Amino acid sequence: MMTQDELKQLVAKAAVQEILTLLPPQSLIGMGTGSTVNFLIDELHAHASYFEGVVSSSDTTTQRLQDRGFKVLDANQVKSLPLYIDGADEIDPHGNMIKGGGGALTREKIVASLADQFICICDATKLVSVLGLFPLPVEVIPMASAQIKRFLESIGGHVELRKAKSDLNQNFVTDNQAWILDVKGLTIDKPLALETQLNQLPGVICNGIFAVQSADTLLVPLNDNVQTIHFRTDKNN
Ligand code: 5RP
Repeated sequence: MMTQDELKQLVAKAAVQEILTLLPPQSLIGMGTGSTVNFLIDELHAHASYFEGVVSSSDTTTQRLQDRGFKVLDANQVKSLPLYIDGADEIDPHGNMIKGGGGALTREKIVASLADQFICICDATKLVSVLGLFPLPVEVIPMASAQIKRFLESIGGHVELRKAKSDLNQNFVTDNQAWILDVKGLTIDKPLALETQLNQLPGVICNGIFAVQSADTLLVPLNDNVQTIHFRTDKNN
C-alpha cells in the first residue's frame, strides 16, 4: 500500500508527462500551491528550460520554482496561460473544488482565471460527492471579519478564524496581508451559487469554492494507477 506522499509523487510524475504532451516548448504555465504541487515542481525541475515562464500562485511556490531554475513571471506580464495546474482539498464529480487549505486561494483563483484549462492533481482522499466536509476557507479584509463571520453563521456555518501554525496566539496572515475564516458544517450542493453569493459580501476577498474556475481535467491515482478524468464542459453546478 502506497503512502499519501508516494501517491502525490505518482500523480506528480503523471502530470509532468501530461504537461509535456499538451504544451509545446517555450510555453507559459500557471502553478498552484501545496504539497502535491511541491512534488510536481520537483519532478518538473529537469524541464525548467522547457517553459518560457511560470506564473505562481504564492510566495512559497515562487521560492520553490526559483530555487529550481524556473523563470517566474508576474501575473500582470501575461494576457493568458494555456494551462494552470494545482491540487485541491476536495473535488466533486463535476470538477468543482474547495481550495485554500494552504491559504493561497486568492492568488490561485487569479492565476486559474488567466488559464484556458485547469488540471487538478490530487490523491483519492480528496474525491467527494458533495463539497463541504473540508472547512471552506474565506479570505477576508480583517476589519470585516466579524460581520462576515455572522453571515456565515446565519447560513449554518461554524466559523473559526485561522491561526498561524507557528503561534496559535497569532492570526494566520495570507500573502495578501488578510485573514482566513474556515467554515465547517456547510453542505455545498450548489457550489456556483454559494461561490457567487459569498463574493458579494463586502470585505470578502475570495472564497475557496472553485466552481467558476472548476477543473477541466483531474489526474488521480486509483489502485496505484493514475487515472485521467475529463469533466464535461457543460458542467452541472
Ligand atoms: C492551497 C491549496 C492546495 O491546493 C490544497 O490545500 C491542497 O494541498 P495539498 O496538495 O498539500 O493537499 O488550495 O491553498
